[in-house]
Amino acid sequence: YPGSFDPPTNGHADLIRRACSLFGEIIVAVITNPAKEPLFSAEERVQMLRKVIAELRLSARVRVDTFDGLLVDYLKSTRTRVVIRGLRAVSDFEYEFQMALTNRRLYPGMELIYLMPDEKWTYLSSNLVKTIARYRGDISHFVPHSVVAPVRAKLGVHR
Ligand code: PNS
Repeated sequence: YPGSFDPPTNGHADLIRRACSLFGEIIVAVITNPAKEPLFSAEERVQMLRKVIAELRLSARVRVDTFDGLLVDYLKSTRTRVVIRGLRAVSDFEYEFQMALTNRRLYPGMELIYLMPDEKWTYLSSNLVKTIARYRGDISHFVPHSVVAPVRAKLGVHR
């Protein structure tokens, strides 16, 4: 399950849980150099995800790793064939469609599975969480418990 996770949200947590209902073992793969300048370092995102996965009581089945460069190269190096991605709304589709077909052209052996998060989270994104936190809004509805403090601390929000 690759992504930026900058920061992890309840939508990501929901997807990890759903992926675990389908597969025995999941790797959450954090991209270290996303196109968008991340707020959190890769190591910070890894630490937050580990806590989220512990909160879900899925640590035994979910590994958190980082990757750099092309996703297909990471898949090959970890002998992974299936990629999980979340699809929230129609607006996600075009980017995901392009990414899926490009990746599959580069690595025909792979498959992509798109999971839909609970409808509670269809509008949610990491960017939204960062914006709300920046303006001192309450992010506790949108991110797992353990993510609230790191986001507030990073943005210098004390409440
Ligand atoms: O959480 P995001 O930002 O939607 O995740 C996007 C991600 C990291 C999965 C995607 O940008 C990616 O795979 N980047 C690695 C570079 C790559 O392989 N690009 C070709 C994809 S067509």
